[in-house]
Amino acid sequence: MTLPKARIGGRKSRFFQPFSAVPELSLYLTEQTARIDAALERLLPSAGTPPATLHAAIRHSIFAGGKRLRPVLLLAACEACGGDAEQALPAACAVECIHTYSLIHDDLPCMDDDDFRRGRPTCHKVYGEAIAVLAGDALQPMAFELLLQSPAGPGYSAAGMVRELAVTAGSLHLIAGQVRDLEGEGKKISFDELRLVHEGKTAALLTASLRLGAMVAGATPAQLEAVTAFGHALGLAFQVIDDILDVTQTSEKLGKTAGKDAASEKSTYPAILGLEASRAEASRLTDEARAALGHLGPASRRLGEIAGYLLQREF
Ligand code: IPE
Ligand code: IPE
Ligand code: MG
Ligand code: MG
Ligand code: MG
Repeated sequence: MTLPKARIGGRKSRFFQPFSAVPELSLYLTEQTARIDAALERLLPSAGTPPATLHAAIRHSIFAGGKRLRPVLLLAACEACGGDAEQALPAACAVECIHTYSLIHDDLPCMDDDDFRRGRPTCHKVYGEAIAVLAGDALQPMAFELLLQSPAGPGYSAAGMVRELAVTAGSLHLIAGQVRDLEGEGKKISFDELRLVHEGKTAALLTASLRLGAMVAGATPAQLEAVTAFGHALGLAFQVIDDILDVTQTSEKLGKTAGKDAASEKSTYPAILGLEASRAEASRLTDEARAALGHLGPASRRLGEIAGYLLQREF
């Protein structure tokens, strides 16, 4: 599969353009992604920093125009819990580093073997497999270094925040999900097993992003519980939609290879339940996520809007 060259080049300068039926939300997402991009630009080593190949490879993947969903959620959760989002910016960059590393490794030939990501050739296609592995490696400790630049709010500690991200990115959650995803290829796994894949590879980091935002804000236990329940349901909905889009969208629109899940015989919601039931499940999970926000009060309006936007997304 080859993406049209113009599209790949076009996406480089275009960056992600959020579109929501709620115009005010589109503006909010545009502003937040610009703010996160500026912070990443400021906090990450420049492309020329030796070894220049490594830092150019990191930047190739980080600045490719991702949706910045996890950092946006982190900042929104911080605000929903009464905190100052400015203080949460380094933590927001940290979760984007973990996410981007996971994508670089996910695309490697030994994993999903993808040639395109975020509208660009994947990191290993441009820089070779060894540098791509190392770029992913380097992004992990970089994430923890950045996380430590966000202060823990009252009632929380830097150690607790580091633990939150370490456990999430580790062998019981994100990596567990990736292993289960690979081991599920070519098999008919049960609905419960599929949910475990999604909880690990996707919902865990979305939830941790929200929780870290809440921790910077010094959230009450009830607030932390609410963003956790919201993140779990939203994360599951997000991966169901990712699976649906793989079937229904074009590579051009997605900025990554469409139809890849079926080609790799992945266990997905559409493969197990069919498209219509998958859409219904995504909608049910989004409702569940929104219901969890009830405990947070009006400050969480933005989180609810983001959940609605993600259900309607086309990439
Ligand atoms: C892709 O995540 C990987 C999944 C967990 C489904 P995103 O769809 O958030 O990717 P970017 O960051 O916008 O590229
Ligand atoms: C990737 O899931 C999840 C992680 C990288 C942790 P997918 O393999 O479904 O993501 P895409 O479809 O390649 O973006
Ligand atoms: Mg994968
Ligand atoms: Mg993949
Ligand atoms: Mg996918």
